[in-house]
Amino acid sequence: MKALVLAGGSGTRLRPLSHAIPKQLIPVAGKPVLAHCLENIAAIGVTDVGLIVGDRGDEMRAQLGDGAALGLRITYIRQHAPLGLAHCVRLAADFLGDDDFVMYLGDNILADGIAEVAADFAANRPAAQILLVKVANPREYGVAELDADGRVTGLAEKPAEPRSDLALTGVYFFTPAIHEAVRAIAPSPRGELEITDAIAWLVARGLRVDASQFHGYWKDTGKIDDLLECNRVLMERRRGEVRGTVDATSRLYGEVVVEPGARIVGSVVTGPAVIGAGTLVRDSLIGPYTALGRNCTLLGAGIEHSIVLDGVSVRRVRGIYGSLIGREAAVCSAIDDGHRRLVIGDHATVEVA
Ligand code: G1P
Repeated sequence: MKALVLAGGSGTRLRPLSHAIPKQLIPVAGKPVLAHCLENIAAIGVTDVGLIVGDRGDEMRAQLGDGAALGLRITYIRQHAPLGLAHCVRLAADFLGDDDFVMYLGDNILADGIAEVAADFAANRPAAQILLVKVANPREYGVAELDADGRVTGLAEKPAEPRSDLALTGVYFFTPAIHEAVRAIAPSPRGELEITDAIAWLVARGLRVDASQFHGYWKDTGKIDDLLECNRVLMERRRGEVRGTVDATSRLYGEVVVEPGARIVGSVVTGPAVIGAGTLVRDSLIGPYTALGRNCTLLGAGIEHSIVLDGVSVRRVRGIYGSLIGREAAVCSAIDDGHRRLVIGDHATVEVA
């Protein structure tokens, strides 16, 4: 069994952040989205991972290397244009060979892992096994239709008139039967080779396609609010651990991770919270549900329900809430007569009270 992880998408809905960092590398609960995905793959005992990357492949390689730190062997496979999920399977045909594989979209978070569905697939070996979740907005997803026995009878990608409210999550299990399907289908109206169409092709030929309803926590982290929600859910599962320094005038409440070299001085940190390595927090109120990256400086800051990437400085600004702050960004209060000086990159959002 191998894994095929798709991390070629550019993340237009996560601009401006995705201009600077591939969406799959944005940290939630102190770890890149892609690392959460790879950990779930390692947890089902798969070690051989093909990672489909677009033009940000070098950044992925810099972060993940050959995968050894996660107990994996990563093979990087370049996709030159976003031509669809089934196109990724075509590209990976040599890597996958005759093995069964799990395909996992690198921007999906499944907080409870994929062990149960992996065991179902191994026990029955259908041509394909998909993971479904009931959603309120099926038009935004691939949608499956089931018969009374729960067998898949039809699939459609982002249908205008969905025939069910069961969305495909970004985790699929396949036998090599899928290779013929991805070669047989034609591009969809949006110009992509859809994996949904390839699975529908299997169904139409009478091959067995199983569906498991996923009851754990799942999110496709396409938007800022999704990342913040995942951050909250995953942080709730982390235990606190102090490996940096906390001075006698500071207070930590709840589960707080203080990484090595981080310093907390004259501050209150309410967990769940992560204070990244080398970060200084002074005279500040941090958390709950806040993950600070490495080497940040927070002086007189107040921040909760937020994700802060590496090297950020926040000075004399309180009341920051539900925010995502990119690498090396500086947030400070106006020092003169209330004029605000803003140096903001393309596609940024700034809300000013
Ligand atoms: C993709 C798939 C879709 C699936 C979704 C899950 O959509 O095409 O079928 O429901 O992932 O995350 P995308 O997010 O690429 O638009």
